[in-house]
Amino acid sequence: MVSIRVEGDFEVVDQDGKVFGLAGRNKIGLCRCGHSENKPFCDGAHKKVNFQSVIQAFDLPPAHRPLFLNPSSRLPAGNLTDRQHPDRASTPCVSF
Ligand code: FES
Repeated sequence: MVSIRVEGDFEVVDQDGKVFGLAGRNKIGLCRCGHSENKPFCDGAHKKVNFQSVIQAFDLPPAHRPLFLNPSSRLPAGNLTDRQHPDRASTPCVSF
């Protein structure tokens, strides 16, 4: 499997925080190859381009770590979720 499988009770949001309608799905694949015509969802295009990738599951650091490290922001970043932060549209959701 080359897509990222997400299962359970979740939402997928775009860069503006708008929620994708999943039509009741509780299991989806997210594209990692960059070739899907239906991004961010996998549409099987990875097979046509023979995308190969193996990743091993790992643990993210604790969620209470700051998600955003923007020195120009006047708001504290550490206690905001990615959806609440004013710089959300221009920063990644998870930092390492
Ligand atoms: S991972 Fe499946 S289309 Fe990109």
